[in-house]
Amino acid sequence: MQICVLGTGHVGLVTAAAFARFGHDVCAYDADARKMDLLQRGDMPFYEPGMEELVHAEVAAGRLRFEPDPAVAIRGAEAVFICVGTPPRADGEANLRAVEAAATMVAEHATGDVVVVEKSTVPAGTAERVAATMERIGNARFRVASNPEFLREGKAVQDALHPDRLLVGSDVPDALAVLRRIYATQIERGVPYIETDLRSAELAKHACNAFLSMKISYANALARICERADADVTAIADVMGSDPRIGRAFLDAGLGFGGYCFPKDVQAFERFAKGLGYDFGLLREVERINEEAVEATFARIKEACWNLESKRVALLGLSFKPDTDDVRFAPALKLARLLLDAGAEVIGFDPQAEPNAKREVPELNVAPGPYDAAEGAHCAVVCTEWDQVRSIDLVRLRTAMAEPVLIDGRNVFTPEAAASAGFRYYPTGRRPTLA
Ligand code: UDX
Repeated sequence: MQICVLGTGHVGLVTAAAFARFGHDVCAYDADARKMDLLQRGDMPFYEPGMEELVHAEVAAGRLRFEPDPAVAIRGAEAVFICVGTPPRADGEANLRAVEAAATMVAEHATGDVVVVEKSTVPAGTAERVAATMERIGNARFRVASNPEFLREGKAVQDALHPDRLLVGSDVPDALAVLRRIYATQIERGVPYIETDLRSAELAKHACNAFLSMKISYANALARICERADADVTAIADVMGSDPRIGRAFLDAGLGFGGYCFPKDVQAFERFAKGLGYDFGLLREVERINEEAVEATFARIKEACWNLESKRVALLGLSFKPDTDDVRFAPALKLARLLLDAGAEVIGFDPQAEPNAKREVPELNVAPGPYDAAEGAHCAVVCTEWDQVRSIDLVRLRTAMAEPVLIDGRNVFTPEAAASAGFRYYPTGRRPTLA
């Protein structure tokens, strides 16, 4: 099937390449000319494991193209997927300008019948706005559908090629039939395939992301209690996780959640509920506990180092999670800002995210490796659980440092390993080892 993907961010690019792999004829467009230029040259606009190989293979097979002219990209497509950004406005509400622009573009350039599919995370009701925008322009025969994306950064290629489940929503049977054809190989393979009405599909995405965020905040609130009650949050998470009704996933306490989905989706969902006259205060609390997770780590650094002026703090990992160069809403950078404001010198290491981190926080120094970052430091803080951080030789790290203080914001080390390397060790939600 001929498919057009509008937007080549994390969701759009991986989706386009996956559709090509499923055997469709895919053309991707982005309003950012620089991105189009990079992609046409075979370069990737961001780091995502396995993506470059997949894109190159599909381009070489002739199933995937990047087209800077939207008219050419959209012409002849049976389905157009809207994968543009929906960044938060200052008040947390999702900014849907790019969605409107994409709908306008489809209306102007579509030829024949087209199914317009929202893949960007949007508040429920957006599809109706998309339809109204297209009707106003009045050019194309179209139906709308929603097909929310559940890709995780760092595992996006795997998630797109082998999804846990697929969710599609539309109020028009024809549109659902087109989507069934698009996902035919996945359906045959037995991937759970859920069809709902349009609004429920839109709402389900926010419901999932907000719920997972709530699990993380629950674990972080527990960590605050464990620190006061002298208990161990990882032991409690294991007990909770052994109950299949709860599940162990997303109960890791630490610096909290970041990235471009959870923080903005929790906010947008709360705003959306408010707009409907429902006060979803639980989500405000999820956000507050998430902020508190960084503040608690900052307080632990202060407790360990006393005055922070002229102290050197090494941050191990800067991206919001491992296997990505994404630093948007990264807890490590929130922590960096708090430390810099308190007068500390901050030096970070990250296997992929250093350029992005430096762009966001120019006062941050960066080092090429963990031991370079730790050189002369009074404190090292684990912010992101990259393999390159997990596999650090703790004796070598301690030897490089001015003071043997290790703050573990992701609980990647054991108290025994940290203590035997000679560290004063401060995990999260667990008893510190200070000998
Ligand atoms: C998330 C959803 O998982 C995905 O389904 C959705 O489509 C997009 O948003 P992503 O943002 O890539 O994906 O990251 P995810 O792996 O879910 O982690 C989000 C954040 O939560 C990270 O900052 C991570 O460090 C943090 N986290 C996760 C915790 O702090 N504790 C946990 O137990 C799990």
